[in-house]
Amino acid sequence: MSRIPFEQLPAVTRRAVADKTGAVHQATTAGGGVNSGIASILDTDSGPVFVKGVRSDHPQIDAQQREAAVAPHLPSSCPRLYWHLEAAGWSLLGYEVIDGRHADYAPGSPDLPLVGAALAELQGLTASADLDIKDARDRWTEYAPPGTLHYFAGDTLLHTDFAPDNILIVGDRARLVDWAWPTRGAAWIDPGALALRLMEAGHSAEAAVAFADRFPSWRDAEPEALEAFGVATAALWQEISRESPMAWKRAMSRHAAVLSDYLAAGR
Ligand SMILES: Nc1ncnc2c1ncn2[C@@H]1O[C@H](COP(=O)(O)OP(=O)(O)O)[C@@H](O)[C@H]1O
Ligand SMILES: [Mg+2]
Repeated sequence: MSRIPFEQLPAVTRRAVADKTGAVHQATTAGGGVNSGIASILDTDSGPVFVKGVRSDHPQIDAQQREAAVAPHLPSSCPRLYWHLEAAGWSLLGYEVIDGRHADYAPGSPDLPLVGAALAELQGLTASADLDIKDARDRWTEYAPPGTLHYFAGDTLLHTDFAPDNILIVGDRARLVDWAWPTRGAAWIDPGALALRLMEAGHSAEAAVAFADRFPSWRDAEPEALEAFGVATAALWQEISRESPMAWKRAMSRHAAVLSDYLAAGR
């Protein structure tokens, strides 16, 4: 999706924002991320606010609703959601600004332990029963090998999208943003999702899985569960890269295939 500057939102939408924040003095479009039609840091009468959003008729609207629903349940590593509004055909979320930079996942990066600490905090969180988010079994049902879906079940609150531009580094802390895919499921799924992104940044499958092994959920998972994850992830990225063959998606698909082979060999 192409991203427009804040100033190009309809006047009614911008007025609705100003009703929440006070006068908007300046807007700077954020770098990183591909899904939101707008993502801007605003300088307002009430201080800095990060605004992201999509048109109300866009397919991405479901993800935006999920993101709003999960916000009150998130740990302190995540920015606080101030408000959610719909005005003149746009759905917008207003967040605490995290003044940081995207995480660097390259092998040996000093950001990696910080990302590990943020994920470790998240691993302890249960998705409360009244929270209306996706179940991991439903998300992976079309991709997991027959008879393996039960491995994906669990009640941990999962982020599932560890693209490095969804992690902002501030000082010695990693902050998790972009909760468009919150999921209830087995705790080992998030370390697995992160492992694939580490491979994208240049880690071998062995190194990426060694990183995932820091997390007890992954370390103690049954090998059959991790193998099923590998197969499902490879199938998912194959589909994504077939539908839209951008270079980074094809690369993700190749990494997922390598990860799958590595996990099938019993790590
Ligand atoms: N709370 C925040 N404060 C400052 N910048 C943010 C915040 N949340 C996200 N960003 C920046 O905006 C980009 C896009 O936001 P994100 O929530 O990831 O949306 P998308 O769905 O477009 O990926 C992120 O990659 C990050 O650089
Ligand atoms: Mg993002």
